[in-house]
Amino acid sequence: MRHFLTLKDYTKEEILEIIKLAQNIKAETKRGEYVPYLEGQTLAMIFEKSSTRTRVSFEVGIYQLGGIGLFLSKNDIQLGRGEPMRDTARVISRMCDMVMIRTYAQSDLEEFAAYSKVPVINGLTDEYHPVQLMADYLTMVEYGKEKDPIVAYVGDGNNMAHSWLMLASKLGFELRVATPKGYEPKEEILEDAFEFAKQSGAKITLLNDPKEAVEDADVVTTDTWISMGQEDEKEKRVRDFKGFMVDNNLMSLAKDDALFLHCLPAYRGYEVSEEVFEAHEKEIFDEAENRLHAQKGVMVWLDKHRK
Ligand code: CP
Ligand code: NVA
Repeated sequence: MRHFLTLKDYTKEEILEIIKLAQNIKAETKRGEYVPYLEGQTLAMIFEKSSTRTRVSFEVGIYQLGGIGLFLSKNDIQLGRGEPMRDTARVISRMCDMVMIRTYAQSDLEEFAAYSKVPVINGLTDEYHPVQLMADYLTMVEYGKEKDPIVAYVGDGNNMAHSWLMLASKLGFELRVATPKGYEPKEEILEDAFEFAKQSGAKITLLNDPKEAVEDADVVTTDTWISMGQEDEKEKRVRDFKGFMVDNNLMSLAKDDALFLHCLPAYRGYEVSEEVFEAHEKEIFDEAENRLHAQKGVMVWLDKHRK
């Protein structure tokens, strides 16, 4: 049995297999064919943080695959009153066929997975957001950007930056990460990425200058400067990220047909300007829709790999 906790655990071939599955299921869905790959299965969805896309795409996704989703908000289950992850895992995994969790510490997710009898999916932690990256890569493929792309990530060295590092280093493309000083990705995640890059041929560059990162890029991407749980740091972060907004000046340095991707929610006037956001709304909302298709790919793949 496999879990989907971070792309670190996946090979290039497996990532591409999930993407292919997502593409096929998307094509079927577009034709109005809802193939019940997961007929009668129940997906538990535990949320310790807010969500629009992750919740809707998993809940609609499992329903369209012939199963049902259970939305379990932290405040409504005993987890919120201190029941340990390992006990919650042992209960839920005896009743449900798959579990998706959005939480804070990656170690809590790992603890849940260690005690679960069924596949567990990371729906975002402070460290990683791997299901988002599957949707982002699916979008790149659809826009013909999968052949040796240069991807520029501008902003916070957060869960999205970490996930891009895993994707690029596994698939072998060029990734430039530009953060303000002090907001670089975590050291141990960088070490892993550089190690994977040796095998895949990925080129990973860390910078503190967004212009240098975006120069000639095929894909420019960013994320909020204030992730969930960091609300108290807003004032300081807004100060520290000055000069890191993706605006027309910055975008003009990328290739003429460069994509701009954003996992959303977007904060206009902070990490992205209104103009850039609206000029690229087509691919941004294709990316958001692709959460549904990518999630289905992940769930069906995990189901196929049950022992
Ligand atoms: N991108 C993303 O995960 O969105 P939500 O927080 O709305 O789920
Ligand atoms: N980095 C953001 C991503 C939201 C989808 C957060 O963790 O809040």
